[in-house]
Amino acid sequence: MAQRVRKAVLPVAGLGTRFLPATKAMAKEMLTVVDRPLIQYAIEECLDAGIDEFVFVTGRNKMAIEDHFDSAYELEATLEQRGNKAAELKLTQAATLKQGNAIFTRQQKPLGLGHAVWCARHWIGREPFAVLLPDELMVSSPTCTAQLVTAHEKTGGNIVAVMNVPREQTKSYGIVAVKPEKDGLAEMTGIVEKPKPEEAPSTLAWIGRSVVLPEVFDHLDRHEKGAGGEIQLTDAMAKMIGNKPFHAMTYTGQRYDCGSRIGFLEANVGVALNRADTAAETRALLTRMLKG
Ligand code: G1P
Repeated sequence: MAQRVRKAVLPVAGLGTRFLPATKAMAKEMLTVVDRPLIQYAIEECLDAGIDEFVFVTGRNKMAIEDHFDSAYELEATLEQRGNKAAELKLTQAATLKQGNAIFTRQQKPLGLGHAVWCARHWIGREPFAVLLPDELMVSSPTCTAQLVTAHEKTGGNIVAVMNVPREQTKSYGIVAVKPEKDGLAEMTGIVEKPKPEEAPSTLAWIGRSVVLPEVFDHLDRHEKGAGGEIQLTDAMAKMIGNKPFHAMTYTGQRYDCGSRIGFLEANVGVALNRADTAAETRALLTRMLKG
């Protein structure tokens, strides 16, 4: 039987250069989509998947993430005293993680995503874990990570979530090579980091969600550099193909690429259009703006 997935690694050390100057003094993961920071969506996705132990791999200027998931005593006390702020109090408290369930460790040098995940090794130990890149915002029910966990329970192996992208974009992603799909899962035969369009084995891109076996650390331990001179997670995952079950799952829900300004804007509009409390007003607003 597959070991239960209890832990997630959230690599959040990136500088967010595409969002300067907003990210000059603030973590990019704290940028807000409607009313909550990007990182909270990733955490809620994990909770939906039954995962409630977190390793945040952070860097300088990221303290707000830790504060966000802590209890906020003064704020909560003030909201309580006001008497009419029960809903706000509930929202604030819902963003608090269970005591002792989150670890914040720093990636001291920007050596790549593989290196960031490797920094979490002692806190993960020898069990399967989820990896979520919070720049990618996923909206679906069940969540993308919950779907990966279910798939892992079936196969006991590594699973990556993939989506089709236009061929000219392969150079921005880890691209997989797969056998034909069976029951929504396709056995992987390869994964290449950021291949040129003419060299890409397919147009199926890894979208920053995975369940990974701890053996990945054995490969990351070697600190081998790959594409862009960085230690790549995809390279370490590729080494497990053939040794451990490894599948790609085509994700069919909504995905917003919040690593780009337009994707981030789309996320704000898309999430607002999908929420019962904001949908009607957002629709009316957009209609008005497009007419004007
Ligand atoms: C990273 C990964 C890449 C993956 C992508 C998804 O790239 O290295 O394999 O497809 O995230 O967003 P980055 O966007 O950090 O350059």
